[in-house]
Amino acid sequence: MFPEIVDALRESYEVEHNPEDRPWPPEELARRLRGARGVLATVMDRFDEPLLAQCPDLEVISNIAVGFNNIDVAACSRRGIRVTNTPGVLDDTTADLTWALLMAAARRIAEGDAYVRAGEWKIAFGVQYFLGQDVHHRTLGVLGMGRIGQAIARRARGFDMRVLYCNRTRLPEAQEQRLGADYAERDRLLAESDFVVVMAPYSPATHHLVGAAEIAKMKPTAILVNSARGGVVDDEALVYALKHRRIAGAGLDVFEGEPRVNPGFLELRNVVMTPHIGSASAATRMTMCRTAMQNMVAVLEGREPPNLVNVIPA
Ligand code: GLV
Repeated sequence: MFPEIVDALRESYEVEHNPEDRPWPPEELARRLRGARGVLATVMDRFDEPLLAQCPDLEVISNIAVGFNNIDVAACSRRGIRVTNTPGVLDDTTADLTWALLMAAARRIAEGDAYVRAGEWKIAFGVQYFLGQDVHHRTLGVLGMGRIGQAIARRARGFDMRVLYCNRTRLPEAQEQRLGADYAERDRLLAESDFVVVMAPYSPATHHLVGAAEIAKMKPTAILVNSARGGVVDDEALVYALKHRRIAGAGLDVFEGEPRVNPGFLELRNVVMTPHIGSASAATRMTMCRTAMQNMVAVLEGREPPNLVNVIPA
């Protein structure tokens, strides 16, 4: 946690701070939360029924993230615990990172960097060196057109791309026009897109939203980008597809079971990976932490938090 946030909280509250880059394991988290009224949490902290049962004083779990699949929200609601998140403030930063992965995969940036560093660059200019894919004037498919999906789509205009999107609910026509995005059923989006970006929140309904069957519908030249959540893509199926060149490449910021990464990815050159840093610009992470603090303090002071996720039964 940024020291500014801890200091600000210490002015009014007794604060137990984890200063290490190591999440507290469940037993330790339960012990540390004994008597605590609020917690600022990251997606690494799991809040399930057994943990909540050990924290009877907890009034609010304030996630420093827009996603909250690390929290059993229904269990929190039953116990009267408010859950909050940090929507909106990270859309552009996460969209930027998604584009960085898309372009890195398309133009083989990480591969080229490793090649130069390894001293393997012997011929100054090779006509067929590191041939990648054009991004401009091609088709981008966005699976999940919420705030971040829309920020990703907006950026495609600068590359003169055609944008297809698929979402639980279709956007109003005026919004589609503003974004320059056409609604497509998932199968058509997969078949026609040169770049498929997954931006759906994780839930049992989106588990393996993109698996072997969906990948099979993509073009062999296509690139898949997942900067949403591990588990929305079936990593094992993706490893297989990349290895056998069923699709051309992938850019991944999130993984099933992270920080563990499917070892199959590590052997492949047509995948570029980052360690769940979608929202990790200095400015945005500070804004997320301030937002999370405001959410938590609002509950502790008996006010409605700005970003409440659950409905507490009366
Ligand atoms: C990060 O993964 C977030 O959900 O904000």
